[in-house]
Order: sequence, then C-alpha cells, then structure tokens
Amino acid sequence: MNPWLKIPLKDYEKHMNHPLVGQLELLSNLTKEKLQKYKPESIAILGVCGGNGLEHINNSVTKTVIGIDINQEYLDECKNRYSTQITNLKLFQCDLNTHELPDFKAYLVMASLIFEYIDINTGLEKVYNCISENGILIAIIQKNNNVTSVSPTGVESVKEIGSVFKILDEFEFEKIAKEKGFKLISKTEHFLVNGKSFVCLDFQK
Ligand SMILES: C[S@@+](CC[C@H](N)C(=O)[O-])C[C@H]1O[C@@H](n2cnc3c(N)ncnc32)[C@H](O)[C@@H]1O
Repeated sequence: MNPWLKIPLKDYEKHMNHPLVGQLELLSNLTKEKLQKYKPESIAILGVCGGNGLEHINNSVTKTVIGIDINQEYLDECKNRYSTQITNLKLFQCDLNTHELPDFKAYLVMASLIFEYIDINTGLEKVYNCISENGILIAIIQKNNNVTSVSPTGVESVKEIGSVFKILDEFEFEKIAKEKGFKLISKTEHFLVNGKSFVCLDFQK
C-alpha cells in the first residue's frame, strides 16, 4: 500500500507546519505568488492534499480549480474546507503512477513536492497533455543541501513517506522537462529554516 494512504492529514499538516519545518506556509505563499503572476482561468493542482494554497483563489479570475490526489480522505477534507469558497472545485482521486489523469485542460498546473513521489517521465507526459497551449507548469522540488535528517517534529507517522520519497536532481529534471516539450521560463530558490530549500521551476508548454 502506498504510505501516503496511511498518513492522517492532521499528522502531515502538523509536521509540515512545525516551526522546524515551515513548508506549508512557504508552499502557500508560492501558490499565491504564481496565481497573481499568471492569473490562470483554470488551475490543476497535483498532490492537492488538504488544499494548502487554495485560500488564495480568486473566483473572478480563476473559474475552474482541479485537485488531484491519491488519498481520498485528503480530498474529502479539501472539499470540506473549500467547496463553498471556490465556485468550481473539482477533485479527483488518482494514483499518478498507475492511472491516467481525468480528462481536462488547465492553463496552469501546480506540482508542489509531488514529482518526488512519482515517475518523472510519465508524470511530465501526463502533465503535458493536460496543459492548454502555451500554458504553464510550476514544479516545486525539494533540495536537501546536505541536511539529510527528518526534522524532529514529534510526528512519527510521516516517517513512512521516506520509503517512497526520492531527492530529485534539479538539472536532470529540467533536462527531462525540456525533452518532453517544456521551456523553462523562470527558476527561483527558497530556503527553509532547517537549511533545506525549494527550487521553483516555471515551464511553458
Ligand atoms: C508533499 S504533499 C504535496 C504538498 C501540498 N501540495 C502542499 O502544498 O502542502 C504530496 C501530496 O501528493 C500526494 N501523492 C503522493 N503520491 C501520489 C501519487 N502517486 N498520486 C497522486 N498523489 C500522490 C500525497 O497524498 C500528498 O497529498
């Protein structure tokens, strides 16, 4: 069984929100920044989890919001939190490693800390097919910068994820994305309190 199916959302969010980790807030802020930059009419979020970042959706700009995740309980909570706030929220349970994406086209696809858990080649091909012409893929990947330990947040269950997590090489990722037809248009790096960082790559189709 995929370990993501065993981790309660409250455990994951407690770990990610811990002051020693601080990842939820940074991911939410990056989502806000990209929504303001690209003003997408439609957005798809891969690994949407409980909907971190969806608080920044402006219904008058973004008319359709699609969320994909392997864990139905995360999607249920995401629906619970945002279905009244977001006019057109569509959530789909899908294992990106073994299933095709549902049939949709989105201008912006956000993939924050998801390529660590899925096959990059097939993942990028699936994303390419669901992005509209000239649309944007934002891929946020984690860099450990030689900090290999899991921050001691007291949440034990998240350690299970280690069995499916892989650190990506940002340059290898860029190369594969280019081979799949994406053009890199922006790259930034954002440091976390524990010395790890997120590399944020904006690609255009
Ligand atoms: C690290 S979280 C993503 C961060 C999240 N977007 C945020 O802002 O907090 C990874 C998410 O991807 C989902 N996930 C992991 N493997 C998956 C797979 N094979 N297919 C679909 N979703 C997957 C997990 O259930 C989890 O919700």
